[in-house]
Amino acid sequence: MQSPTLRAVLHSATARLAAQHDSARLDAELLLAAALGQSRSYLIAWPERVLTDAQAQGFAALLARREAGEPIAHILGRREFWSLDIEVTPATLIPRPETELLVELALARIPVDTAWDIVDLGTGSGAIALAVAQERPRSRVLATDVSMEALTVAQENARRLNIGNVDFRLSAWYAGLDDARRFDVILSNPPYVRTDDPHLHQGDVRFDPIEALVSGADGLNDLRIIVAGAPTQLRPGGWLLVEHGYDQGEDVRRLFAEAGFVDIQSVADLAGHPRVTLGRAVAAQTP
Ligand SMILES: C[S@@+](CC[C@H](N)C(=O)[O-])C[C@H]1O[C@@H](n2cnc3c(N)ncnc32)[C@H](O)[C@@H]1O
Repeated sequence: MQSPTLRAVLHSATARLAAQHDSARLDAELLLAAALGQSRSYLIAWPERVLTDAQAQGFAALLARREAGEPIAHILGRREFWSLDIEVTPATLIPRPETELLVELALARIPVDTAWDIVDLGTGSGAIALAVAQERPRSRVLATDVSMEALTVAQENARRLNIGNVDFRLSAWYAGLDDARRFDVILSNPPYVRTDDPHLHQGDVRFDPIEALVSGADGLNDLRIIVAGAPTQLRPGGWLLVEHGYDQGEDVRRLFAEAGFVDIQSVADLAGHPRVTLGRAVAAQTP
């Protein structure tokens, strides 16, 4: 029997995935490109090419994993974030597109030509820290996490991407930071999902580490610690920017106000949901 062409393989794989995944065509392309060791543009350029038996078997194995629900980022071991090729593992949250808003808002405040001190709390794969560090090479970025496994992945990403202005620290929020060091910017995409949120049992989220997601009954346990502790870690006038759930904007702005921040605002993501809240520390405070 004649081996099927790339076009035909893509067509049938898309049809198989369509029942479960909105991104069926894209998923099929990413998996086929990986099985061939080629880029997606190769599939478009050469639709009449046929797969070797080994390639067909490799692709079938990848497709079966996706059909079983495994996220594309875990199957490929990679996710693009801010145009960076970020390695992810089951120990790290898969970086989300909405987190690019946090990076964008941070970069709008961090000067290009000055060496600022920046910390990314709960760095996971390192996505936020690495994007900011790459865009602001004069600044020094500290990336922290309570998970040694995640920190190892983040460190490896920095090495592979050749981004040298990032340091890594095992730390539960501020507990492991140097007493005397003060930051110009604190960034965090912390766990903010409610313990009973039904989304935890749906789609790709099922494969994220649970400790990267949940934060108590109202989802705000970690944000309370991060916001309340930020003024003593920031230089006067320094910025705190945090990501949060689509319905947590009001609560998080209240936490900022209680901690004494000024210029507080929440910014909506592309879906129109308040997704990042930011504010400025007025003056250094003593604990
Ligand atoms: C929602 S994930 C975000 C990961 C990454 N910053 C991103 O945006 O893709 C939250 C991260 O916070 C870390 N984390 C959870 N509790 C922590 C704590 N007490 N101190 C520091 N990091 C913590 C988790 O290990 C996880 O990597």
